[in-house]
Amino acid sequence: MENSLKDQINRDKLPRHIAIIMDGNGRWAKRKGNERIFGHKNGVKAVRETVEAAAELGIGYLTLYAFSTENWNRPRTEIDALMSLLVITLDKEIDNLMENNICLVAIGDIDSLPRKVKANLGRAINKTSLNTGMTLVLALSYSARWEILDALKSIARKIESGELTAKEITCDHFTEQLQTRDIPDPELLIRTSGEYRVSNFLLWQIAYAELYFTNTLWPDFTKEDLYAAICNFQNRERRFGKISEQVVS
Ligand code: FPP
Repeated sequence: MENSLKDQINRDKLPRHIAIIMDGNGRWAKRKGNERIFGHKNGVKAVRETVEAAAELGIGYLTLYAFSTENWNRPRTEIDALMSLLVITLDKEIDNLMENNICLVAIGDIDSLPRKVKANLGRAINKTSLNTGMTLVLALSYSARWEILDALKSIARKIESGELTAKEITCDHFTEQLQTRDIPDPELLIRTSGEYRVSNFLLWQIAYAELYFTNTLWPDFTKEDLYAAICNFQNRERRFGKISEQVVS
């Protein structure tokens, strides 16, 4: 493609982990006079483009917020349609994941998902587990407060049994109790559709992430949109609480 933003990306300064809140499927469909599920179906195409672009670039981890704990409150028909879409997509995309050397993992309350979703998810996770390229993390029935509470409960149990004392709880120790224990924190968080919220997504892990918001609705999100977000990220100064001179030196 001519004049792709891809050429402007510094390959030595790639974000190690990109997390995305894929928003706007429903609005996209409505604007086209269609049912919301039509937006989700087209959202899958954007997922495929984004995953492929991130893997090609050499991004280490890509986390996609596919279904939140709060999404269980949507109308039953939409939940069922989303779950069916997941079943079909997981099945259809295994070959693509293998071709791109992508390792699939999932975070969230996986037990709460329908049996068929769990089965296809498990199959895809097993089949791709030895792949050494990008790790694709699907957040399913996920919310950060649920994850943090779950970690807290496991710490409380250890304290109750005398295995742990309060003094021994450090940031690193707490991080170890989260579902993302093997995944580095996201350096770039993207949200589509012009909403400026983090919606209960990876709240502990995004402490120092750069936030990038775009008005593009998720089904319209292309490889070029991902490149634009990465270029924007690379033009920011990340200070981690220090002053500019310290970071430059
Ligand atoms: C947000 O748009 C999107 C979702 C709740 C679901 C995301 C799911 C997909 C893209 C398809 C399945 C994904 C995978 C990984 C196979 P919204 O419905 O909240 O849109 P709105 O804000 O316009 O209503």
